[in-house]
Amino acid sequence: MEISQPKNQHAKIITVIPGEKSQRLRQEEECLIADGLQGFATRSGIAIESANGNIIRDIDGNEFLDIIGGIGVNGIGHSHPKFIKEMSEQLTKCSIGSFTSKARVDFFNIIDQIKVGNLNRVQLYSSGSEAVESALRLAKNATQKWEFVSFSGSFHGKTAGSLALMGSEFKNSYGPFAPGNHVIPYANCFRCPLGSSYPICGLACLEVGRNFLKSNITSGVAAFIIEPIQGTAGNIIPPKDFLSSVRELAKEFDSLLIADEMITGFGRTGHFWGVQHSHTVPDIMTIGKQFGGGYPVSGLLASNELVKIKPWGNPSGSSSSYGGNPMAAMAALTSTQIIIEENLVENSKQMGLYFLELLKPFVDRYSFIGEVRGLGLMIGIELVKNKQTKEPLSKKALNWLFDEFLQNGLLTMAYASSFRIQPAMTIDQETIINIIEIMNKVFNKFSDYGLVDY
Ligand SMILES: Cc1ncc(COP(=O)(O)O)c(C=O)c1O
Repeated sequence: MEISQPKNQHAKIITVIPGEKSQRLRQEEECLIADGLQGFATRSGIAIESANGNIIRDIDGNEFLDIIGGIGVNGIGHSHPKFIKEMSEQLTKCSIGSFTSKARVDFFNIIDQIKVGNLNRVQLYSSGSEAVESALRLAKNATQKWEFVSFSGSFHGKTAGSLALMGSEFKNSYGPFAPGNHVIPYANCFRCPLGSSYPICGLACLEVGRNFLKSNITSGVAAFIIEPIQGTAGNIIPPKDFLSSVRELAKEFDSLLIADEMITGFGRTGHFWGVQHSHTVPDIMTIGKQFGGGYPVSGLLASNELVKIKPWGNPSGSSSSYGGNPMAAMAALTSTQIIIEENLVENSKQMGLYFLELLKPFVDRYSFIGEVRGLGLMIGIELVKNKQTKEPLSKKALNWLFDEFLQNGLLTMAYASSFRIQPAMTIDQETIINIIEIMNKVFNKFSDYGLVDY
């Protein structure tokens, strides 16, 4: 089936950004909303009227090309016609409760067909963190152990258990956490923690992790948890054998492997699941973001044997108030159907390759672009002051880039030196060309103004 979203989408800017109407509404909200909203929403200052495909329209009539995509949520494109129809109809029928629905069964049947290994049993939740917390509880029940291993740069959510796994400074000031969380190095080869390079290193980072764990585990590891490709850290793609080696390491410690596929699942990386790039089968997978089409639904996948373990598997043992309610089930079913019917996994792969083909020359063209990488439509660009030292651009320079992209009609995550790109998987070549045109314009201006040392 043809992709139903519009093609050749362009930005259209008709006011200074943010426009007057947006400014007024934002000022009103500013007095009421608690601080801490997502940075790009606050900084952009725009208020949203509507959206379709890869375009977001503000209330002043400006149209932005959106390569943030709700940070991996926008798989099927904003306002997909089938999604609107099915969700609207569902709303008129029933929206509350955990009783069985036809949509939920149909969704589970699809998962059964596309499962990795024997991970065909599903429990649904409403946020990524909630699914991760459930995975941690299940791993504890299954192994009767309580320690966890995660990776530098990792992000698994902001609830207490998931926060303790975090591999970045964000968690500082929220401690103390439950004991027994160990963070070991991820294979972030652009910024190799050992100053080495792949494949000469022989995945030495994992060897460091192994030795660290040997002397730091006090009781036993319930599970290793890993993002097959790290999202928050900057769409970091480890070498192909990294994940399979982590699988081996988990076996060595007689523990489970949880693959957090919150961003990488449902075709984002050009395979249905991120773990398929390295032929690795985890014991538990957590899923979320784009299989809800914007509706807050997440989930956990595990084998038949694992989900029977008690008390996790007792009645109400792994449930939640909104998990798999009729709206969530319909959102999950409809988005997944669209991804399959419109062949969006293949489109993600092909459009990702096309995007990379146009972005790769940026490394030679611009002194401040240290690396361009990507798998499917999960793309990362390293913005650096100096290609030799790899020192990141300053916050001031990054904010300038974010603001300039915005004024030119491109919604980006250029406020971080590991600049992440994840448009809707419905994107086409012409829209990518339109995005690249704005990127070249802004990067050329950045060069001409000599802002690298800003
Ligand atoms: C890999 C990963 N796991 C978990 C989460 C947490 O999801 P949520 O924000 O829905 O709680 C995120 C959010 O970005 C994520 O990227």
